[in-house]
Amino acid sequence: MAKLTDQTRASLRSRSRLVHLGRDSAQSQGFVNLPPFRGSTVLYPDVAALKSRSQRYTYGTHGTPTTEALCAAWTDIAGAAGTVLVPSGLSAIVVALMTALGAGDHLLMTDSAYAPARAFANKTLKRMGIETTYCDPEIGVGIAALMRPNTKAVLTESPGSQTFEIQDVPAIAEVAHAHGACVLMDNTWATPLFFAPHAHGVDMAIEAGTKYLSGHSDLLIGLVSANEAWFGKLHQTTDQMAIPPGPEDVFLALRGLRSMELRLREAERQALALARWLAARPEVLRVIHPALPDHPGHAIWRRDFAGSSGLFSIILKPVSEAAVAAFLDGLELIGLGYSWGGYESLAVPFDCTSYRTATRWAPGGPAIRFSVGLEDIEDLKADLERGFVRLRAAA
Ligand SMILES: Cc1ncc(COP(=O)(O)O)c(C=O)c1O
Repeated sequence: MAKLTDQTRASLRSRSRLVHLGRDSAQSQGFVNLPPFRGSTVLYPDVAALKSRSQRYTYGTHGTPTTEALCAAWTDIAGAAGTVLVPSGLSAIVVALMTALGAGDHLLMTDSAYAPARAFANKTLKRMGIETTYCDPEIGVGIAALMRPNTKAVLTESPGSQTFEIQDVPAIAEVAHAHGACVLMDNTWATPLFFAPHAHGVDMAIEAGTKYLSGHSDLLIGLVSANEAWFGKLHQTTDQMAIPPGPEDVFLALRGLRSMELRLREAERQALALARWLAARPEVLRVIHPALPDHPGHAIWRRDFAGSSGLFSIILKPVSEAAVAAFLDGLELIGLGYSWGGYESLAVPFDCTSYRTATRWAPGGPAIRFSVGLEDIEDLKADLERGFVRLRAAA
């Protein structure tokens, strides 16, 4: 097998990229996959090399062939200048914020952001003298009115991973950049396959690789890709914090990368089928899925995104908490759990009223989020059908 030339590499479509990037059989004795390099100590051939630290690998926390392979592949599919790895999606949000902000700065965060990111801003960033203002996810260019002279970062998440508001990221980025602020985006829902973050003006893009990159609900990992302007500072911050993910998790994430597009496309197909089926159910008030034409952000989703993933929500017509519990507790295929993006389907009831501050969450009935996996869609419908029978009986 010949080595991939730069010219062929540049011509590859995303599925071929996912299969071939970050892989070099010469480096792994001919075996297809690179092993998980483990280690703290890296040996140097002589004192001169030890003192100058001029060799490629210098210490376990600074990177290994395994971490470099994942970073190189992710950088390529994200269209970034570089990528750093951390042990969870939440720590990816944290290192991106720590890179962009310092004492006395102001942060704008979408009201629909992942709730633990809010907790980090409200407690830790506040203690460090950084103030946060939450904004309507659908604010678009209106974000200009919230910019202050010390606004140094805007954290977007599009769509919000419970309520699925689509943000006008290019418009927000234009305003933020005009004010000298950095644009961060949690791109976990779409992954770079369905939303090219840096081409849409994002400086640092966060991915909870725990979800679709892993795809098997058996590891935690976070990735932050950055453009040319921000990668140096991001790399320095992450390196100084010395929080690499474990080698087995990086190895498994690389394995997940190979099938990520297939899984994502299948999750998209299944989720759309289930969303349409749920929209026609008499127990359902509405379905919140950006790829459905009645979604308020559908036009922006069509303009900016290349697909939708397997995560969406529904609002039930008003019923008691006991009826919702009867619906969910008896599900046999669809599990109850918070993380998502795995091969198995999940559901979680949610309520944003307690923490939203810039927008009001009043959906008109109980809200449930689904992460649709790879089971046969007819079996999933049958599981839900039995759930609706229990719900009606308990209502
Ligand atoms: C949108 C989003 N971002 C980040 C995270 C955090 O990822 P992790 O569980 O790897 O910390 C999650 C987890 O649910 C999430 O839904």
